[in-house]
Amino acid sequence: MTANELRKKYIEFFKSKGHVEISGKSLIPENDPTVLFTTAGMHPLVPYLMGEPHPAGTRLTDYQKCIRTGDIDSVGDTSHLTFFEMLGNWSLGDYFKKESIEFSYEFLTGAEYLNIPPEKLSVTVFAGDEDVPRDEESAQIWKDQGIPEDRIHFLPRSDNWWGPAGETGPCGPDTEIFIDIGKPSCGDSCCPGCNCGKYLEIWNNVFMQYKKMQDGTYEKLARKCVDTGMGIERTITILQGRQSVYDTELFRPLIACVENLSGKKYGAQEADDISIRIVCDHVRASTFILGDPKCVAPSNVGAGYVLRRLIRRAVRHGKKLGIDGNFLSGIAQAVIDMFREPYPEVAGSSDFICSELKKEEDRFLQTLQKGEAEFGKMLPNLLRNPQKTIPGRLAFKLYDTYGYPIELTEELAAENGLRVNREEFDEAFKKHQDLSRAGSEQIFKGGLADNSEQTTAYHTATHLLQQALQEVLGDHVNQKGSNITAERMRFDFTHPQPMTQEEIARVEQIVNDQIAADLPVKMEILPLEEAKKMGAKALFGEKYEDIVKVYCIGEFSKEVCGGPHVGRTGNMGVFKIVKEQSSSAGVRRIRAVLEKNNRN
Ligand code: ALA
Repeated sequence: MTANELRKKYIEFFKSKGHVEISGKSLIPENDPTVLFTTAGMHPLVPYLMGEPHPAGTRLTDYQKCIRTGDIDSVGDTSHLTFFEMLGNWSLGDYFKKESIEFSYEFLTGAEYLNIPPEKLSVTVFAGDEDVPRDEESAQIWKDQGIPEDRIHFLPRSDNWWGPAGETGPCGPDTEIFIDIGKPSCGDSCCPGCNCGKYLEIWNNVFMQYKKMQDGTYEKLARKCVDTGMGIERTITILQGRQSVYDTELFRPLIACVENLSGKKYGAQEADDISIRIVCDHVRASTFILGDPKCVAPSNVGAGYVLRRLIRRAVRHGKKLGIDGNFLSGIAQAVIDMFREPYPEVAGSSDFICSELKKEEDRFLQTLQKGEAEFGKMLPNLLRNPQKTIPGRLAFKLYDTYGYPIELTEELAAENGLRVNREEFDEAFKKHQDLSRAGSEQIFKGGLADNSEQTTAYHTATHLLQQALQEVLGDHVNQKGSNITAERMRFDFTHPQPMTQEEIARVEQIVNDQIAADLPVKMEILPLEEAKKMGAKALFGEKYEDIVKVYCIGEFSKEVCGGPHVGRTGNMGVFKIVKEQSSSAGVRRIRAVLEKNNRN
């Protein structure tokens, strides 16, 4: 079964079960400043899973384009992809476990659908823990479908739980469906989830049943929901009996392009294969980002920055393969042709995609020239070094400041009879990588935080308050901590003495003036250094990632912060300080509320 057939069959099946198709969402999330890309099929549905009514009803289905860049360094192996597609079906307070599992079973085994022999299916369900009971109900439903007990495995939270990591939001146990591909088992404990490759997961049904609260406890959701996800690339790889997604029709035409351009044969040399896969994956992802109706172009911030990194990494691996000149748009054209039907918007932007790719390739060439010039400046000093070794930190500077790749630094070094202290470079690089990974995880995970309107308004109010305190009391005011609930905010800051009544009134007035001015709140994602340069406040002593989000409230306040925030300050309510007291030596604590002014 091809990807095109799978998409159609899935949607057709769920439509026949009363679902409305809602495919066609952008890769760039709407109304969610906390993430750069749509990272899962459920992502655009978060507000509806939290309780908002969806205009299309309570049974929904779609195929959705997604991007995950968290494990960008794994790209190049045979399974990790930057761009991927997900199929999904949702019940918003409509059916629950029984129908969800029955639908999945029917679609997987039905002769007119995936026609998978039932004996190849194994499932996992949640084993339960001190917070949430064992999911006997799902196990029983699977048994009723005919899955024998020995193919139903109870696994812990680390395997069978889906939801916000450490934050608040909807969550619940899930049941995951695996195909046994017939490999020998890896031992007595071999079962789905053991990652030996015998059992491959093809579908995940999440039973959104709980809301994780701020204090770490779980409350039952008023309206239980189902959220399912099936990865298209992985599923067709399994259905076609392939070892890798790169052996399917989604990648073979792209690989053929790279083979033609480079003269290398895929499968001949592992090092070349990795570069071929990186070129294919990154051009595919870049084509979709550029082809999105939201019109992202390469830049130094946000989604544009991710795009830039993808394009440059593709160029670099192309060069490694021996490809000269501009080559990306030829591969992009193959991607465009492949997805004409499911994603017509991509073909509609083909001129833009190809011209942006070419421009970025040219810019990268210039970067390389600058790096070489910089190397030339360092060279006389380096040559005087008796060890003939370039310190890792200098190689890292070329990489970090000029984007100059380490492999090329090593080549230049060799040409001049020098070597690079690679260990030192790797150390610096790893440190940088850990930071940026933490950064992207933070950025990409944000979507499920408690973003209720009131909590969000309080969050924005802390920014207004800090700026107002500095204006009234002086620049020595620094935030020491804050704590927000949907009912009130607490804010600790450095200041040596109690505030006077007059100072309190002035601070309130300044904050309320900003609310009345209905200031726009804008978010930018950019390197920490740039954020500091533009004067954004950052918490003293806090460790930040190298890529951060900066929230600007009109011209009034700029702060490095994870968000989320209100879009405009207008409807936050009336800001009132209810208490000002000592917190510890030299630190004051303010408790404040936003009173609703009953305007509507
Ligand atoms: N949201 C679930 C997933 O992405 C279905 O696996």
